[in-house]
Amino acid sequence: MRMKIPFGTMSITEKSKKLINEILESKKVSSGKYVREFEKKFAQLVGTKEAVALSSGTDAVTLALAVLYDFGAERNDEIIVPALSFVATGNAVLQAGFKPVFVDIEKETLNIDPKSIVQAITEKTRAIIAVHLMGKPADMDSIKDIAKKCNLFVIEDAAEAHGTIYKGKNAGTLGDMAAFSLYIAHMITTIEGGIVTTNNPEFADVLRSLRSHGRACKCAQCVLNTNSGYCQKRFNNEYGGDIRFISERIGYSAKMNEIEAAVGLGNIEIYSEILQKRRQNLIYLMSKFKKFKPLLVSITEGPDEMIGPHAFPVIIQENNNFSRDDLVLYLEKKGIDSRSLFLSMPTQCSGFKFLGYSLGEFPNAEYIGRNGLHIGIHQDIENEDLDYFIKTIEQFLSKN
Ligand SMILES: Cc1ncc(COP(=O)(O)O)c(C=O)c1O
Repeated sequence: MRMKIPFGTMSITEKSKKLINEILESKKVSSGKYVREFEKKFAQLVGTKEAVALSSGTDAVTLALAVLYDFGAERNDEIIVPALSFVATGNAVLQAGFKPVFVDIEKETLNIDPKSIVQAITEKTRAIIAVHLMGKPADMDSIKDIAKKCNLFVIEDAAEAHGTIYKGKNAGTLGDMAAFSLYIAHMITTIEGGIVTTNNPEFADVLRSLRSHGRACKCAQCVLNTNSGYCQKRFNNEYGGDIRFISERIGYSAKMNEIEAAVGLGNIEIYSEILQKRRQNLIYLMSKFKKFKPLLVSITEGPDEMIGPHAFPVIIQENNNFSRDDLVLYLEKKGIDSRSLFLSMPTQCSGFKFLGYSLGEFPNAEYIGRNGLHIGIHQDIENEDLDYFIKTIEQFLSKN
């Protein structure tokens, strides 16, 4: 069935289509000059010195964490993670070779509860992952205070935080590194893709090595994959031998390709329009939705923040006569696509069972896992669609 209000969309501009054709004609499709251009423009947009493009948002979290091995971390060290997030956040910690230590979230903000972080810190803790879920910024001042006192790194999972502003600063500039997803439903997309932003050039160097099997070459403007470039370091380096085949660290295969970068470059060009339209949709829906309180609630925007308009979360409050799944099914029958608002990774996702957590340890995350959903607010959604959504909720509530 074709949805009246689909969850996600993507914009492919004429410029992107032209570039994609050129790239295909040239047969220079693997990571090259357009990926470099995309990285430069993404860094400018966010306001960081560096951005390193990767093949997914999950890789972005994984590789940002793996950088820490070059800066004192050891395998099996601990990373603090909010229990509620898209499961990719927890998977990334394990894929990077660390142990996730989960803490509960705040029900109202959906983000990590700073009060629970302190109790979770041990001698093995190396970093805190601050997820800005649904584009709502995490409490970065408290998180950074704790990190400073305990000498920990802060990694933002900014997958859903394109356009998020916290106390005048963009998400992506608030920690040591930030991981964005560029997957289709996200505001800037490369189809599949991810990118890490950072102000630390040394982190960026290591990221460039990690995405390419941990090899010793990590220059921002690599010429070795252009088959015309001459690289002075190729054989003239501290190791002796071809630098491309010297492995400095355990790496990944996580590069972005030129076609993906071409889609992303088009998106950056129209980013302000996408952001404006999505913000309008978010603000419109937040104001219309207030009347469903206390049965249904969403997140609210604080005075010193701007929520990045990724999607619109809905949380069913306690003591209702209906379940989240009743509402999801009703919406679906009316052509409104939705997604659940993720799960408590340690206690509601069976893959994490081996870590030994038990149901009940993360009451807020588990509550959202049972009672949360989110719908799209993307650039192809109009006010009349949002009015239709509100009317559909009214009908549902009158029947229940
Ligand atoms: C919070 C969060 N972290 C990580 C990811 C992973 O991104 P990707 O799907 O690009 O791997 C997502 C995906 O949307 C996400 O929502």
